[in-house]
Order: sequence, then C-alpha cells, then structure tokens
Amino acid sequence: MKILDEISRTLSEYLLIPGLTTEECTPDRVDLGAPLVRHRTGEEPDIRIATPMVSAIMQAVSSPRLAVALAQAGGLSFIHQNQQIEDQQAEVLAVKRHKAGFRTVDVAVAPQTPLGDVARLLAATEQGMAVVTQSGTADGEFLGLIGLDDFHLERHGATEPVSSRMRTREGLVTASTSVSLPEANELIWQHRLNALPVIENGQVVSLVLKKDCQAQQTYHRTTVDNAERLRVGAGINSRDYSDRIPALVDAGVDVLCLDSSDGYSEYQAKTLEFARNKYGDGVHVGAGNVVDGRAFRYLAEAGAAFVKVGIGGGAICTTRAQKGIGRGQASALLDVVAARDAYAHETGTYVPLACDGGLLNDSHMTIALAMGADFIMLGRYFARLDESPSRKVQIDGQWYKEYWGEGSRRAQNAARYGQRGQMAFEEGVDGYVPYAGSLYDNVEETRAKLTATMISCGSTTLRDFHRDAVLVPVSAESLTQTGAQIHVRRPAITDGEPSVIR
Ligand code: IMP
Repeated sequence: MKILDEISRTLSEYLLIPGLTTEECTPDRVDLGAPLVRHRTGEEPDIRIATPMVSAIMQAVSSPRLAVALAQAGGLSFIHQNQQIEDQQAEVLAVKRHKAGFRTVDVAVAPQTPLGDVARLLAATEQGMAVVTQSGTADGEFLGLIGLDDFHLERHGATEPVSSRMRTREGLVTASTSVSLPEANELIWQHRLNALPVIENGQVVSLVLKKDCQAQQTYHRTTVDNAERLRVGAGINSRDYSDRIPALVDAGVDVLCLDSSDGYSEYQAKTLEFARNKYGDGVHVGAGNVVDGRAFRYLAEAGAAFVKVGIGGGAICTTRAQKGIGRGQASALLDVVAARDAYAHETGTYVPLACDGGLLNDSHMTIALAMGADFIMLGRYFARLDESPSRKVQIDGQWYKEYWGEGSRRAQNAARYGQRGQMAFEEGVDGYVPYAGSLYDNVEETRAKLTATMISCGSTTLRDFHRDAVLVPVSAESLTQTGAQIHVRRPAITDGEPSVIR
C-alpha cells in the first residue's frame, strides 16, 4: 500500500491570473483549434477540430442529430457503443451522409397534418420549411415541401390538410447525394428555389437552403473530412472490437474511442493492438479513462490516438461512492499532462488529452484547457440541448431534458464497467438537467467565454495558453465567495411524473 503525498483537487479549486494582454490579442486572432489525434511534434495531426469540445459516448447525448450539429459548430461527437453493431454503424452512416452546407430535416409532417399544426411546428423550431413525407417522420417516403410562403392560416384555414397546399415532389427540383455544395447553390439560383431537397432511395437526406447560401459564414468552422463530409467518432469496447471496429470503419467513421470507466488495462492494449495490426496508422483509436501518468504512458505506448482523463467526476456518476476509486479532475489532469509532455519530449510523439467529466460550468473548461487538456469531452452540457436524443419534459413550469449515466440501470452498459450481463450494481444515476436551447447558440457562447479568458491571459492559441497560463489554488473560504452574492431562487425539482412531455 502506498499513500500519495497530495490532496486530490477539483477544477473549481483553481483560478487563472491574467497575463499581459497585447494589442495582438483580439477575438478574431484567437484560435481555439485543437489536435484530436497523435502526431509528430511540430507536424499537423490527421484530424483537428476548430472548437475543442467533443460529446460524451452516451445514449442520452451522442445521436446522429447532435453529431451533425456539433460538427457544424466545429467539434465532434462519439456515437455511443451501448447498442447493436449494425445500429451504431447506421448512426455513423447517417452523419457521414451530411456535407458542409447541407442541413438535416428539422420538421417533417404528413399530408394529412392540419396547416395549423405546421404553422406551430415551424414557429417552435424557427424554421421556414417542412418536409412532407408519407409517415410524417424525417426518414419517411418524400412527398413534397410546405413552407411559410405556401399558405396563410386566415385564408386557407388551420384545419385544412397539408396536401391541399404542399408543393408536390413531381414539380420540385431535387438533387442526388453526389451533388456538391457549389452545384447545389447553382441549382438554387438557376431555378429560383428557396430549398433544394437532396434525395436518396426516396428519402430526403438533407436540404440546401437559399438563406444558407447567403449566410454560409455561419458554419465556417464545420469539422469535415477531405470530401467535405462531416466528421464523426464512435465508441467501442474491449469485448466485441474485432467485429465492431471493421463495421464502423466500413461506415466511414473518422475516429474511434474505447469507452471504459477504467482504461488502465491489458484489454485496452489488446484492442489497440488489434486496430494497429489490421489498419496500421489508417485508423485512430483513443483510449481511457485514466487519472495518472503511469496509465497514460501505458496507453500511449500501446498506440492510443488520444487519452481521456477522468474517473468519478461525471455529473451522473456514483463510481467514487460505489467503488472508492477516482481522483479530483485537476490533480488527475496535472499528473497526466506532465506525463504527456515528458512522452512527447522523449519520443517526438504528441498524444492529445481529453478532459472528461464533471465540468459544471464554462470556467471549468477554461481551467482544464489552461492546465494542458487539448479538448474537453462533455455529457451534461450537450444533454441539455435541443439536439440531444432524450425527451424534453416540464416539471413545475420549468423545462428539463432527461440525462442518465451509462452505469445506470436504465443504460445497462455492462461492457463499459467490466461487468457481465445484467449489471450487479449501478455506477450512475438517471435524472433531469435544465433545458438550455440550441447547440449552436450554447457552443458560440462558450467559445466567446474561452476566447475572452485567453485574451485576458495574453494567449491566442491553446498551445500558448498551455505554456503561459498561471494558475493559483484557492482557499475554501474564497470558494464560498466565488459567484454572485445574492439569493437566486432556483426552480425546485419534485418527485413524480413530469406534467408535460415533448
Ligand atoms: P459530465 O460531462 O459531467 O456529464 O460527464 C460525462 C462523462 O461521465 C462521460 O464522458 C463518461 O466518462 C462519464 N460517465 C458516463 N456515464 C457514467 C456513469 O453512469 N457513471 C460514471 N461515469 C459516467
């Protein structure tokens, strides 16, 4: 037995001391770009992300819809592995079908849907156009389009069906999935279209909107591959990897990540070895989670593309209480960052680090990046948003979204916790997080905060920030004085069923 001579510290126990802000430190010069995978020091990695945020490998978080939205905001999602291989493969394919400038279908209606409902749906989602399908769902057989320009409720009546005013497929200009963005924009101007549906096997894969041609600056950070398709990652486990990895690679996945609560294991090394023997450097596999330098070095030597740091800090996590393992996220990160830098110095190979779990607000992201994390993996943050796959519910007049841990009874992700069959005990909880709106708006706000802090510290790149940041531990007393000193009334969460479900 050995006891480390340190106190395990969390991210909220540190603050940044501002550095000299020079005239060069302006928001347009700040680059939040981060390497995602291992590379020779001083060289470019195969994959970079413009926004250093990735979504957690979780059922309640990383769906194709969220993956598209996050790639468009410059980050990347990891589609969860707690599902059949074919289902995960289909979800990866669904993301890879999207190209930059092409939108997913946000509103789908059936021919018999009343016009009043269409108007309400479009207003609620702030869209101007709905796709009409046989089933009324986005993946149904495509029948036509209906937009705000096609009907007027007072004139046409709220109870009239969509079929009376829709533009039917036969009269529409459409494109196939081989269309490029410039070709799609050309068709839009040539035929004076508001929207160009992109069709495959009778279904709408995406829409190119005229208003997007005019404002293509919006998604200028999109994470794309060489063919302009959105990039996406996927979780894997150390049990069925010999079947799961090839299936995901066939679907075009860009990066894989071992999904485990404790990654310091020979199982992970074996999985990494399998991928390396089969694909060489052609497939990137991240590993983790770890909380110290020994475990980092073990996985880096086994070939991990990046390493995830964090055990026991997640918002839905009960691992520390159930098993007594873990480490404060700041202590874990500082130890692993030192090991990463030593490894890079010795070998000339830089293995990026993801800080995963327990980031309760945007300032925690800043502190983690300052300490040396390359990017941040987030569960709770993304679960709160429109694009996450969980239900939106109303409790006592406040909106929430469901969020549950992979170690909860609801997720039953036994492979992640090294348990067999039914999980013998839980390591996570199932609950609600306050609803927070659209992904794009939230990520933009977070980016603005990261940028402002980096400017205060005199850094314009994350690499400079790692080198130049000055942090100070804070006393227990100053922790209580952080934040507004007023009484803010919080909404109460009561037991029982939500009163409204969307
Ligand atoms: P969050 O960002 O604080 O919500 O933490 C998300 C992270 O918690 C994930 O990326 C996982 O590493 C971890 N995690 C997910 N589910 C569980 C669970 O049930 N128990 C413990 N940790 C979990």
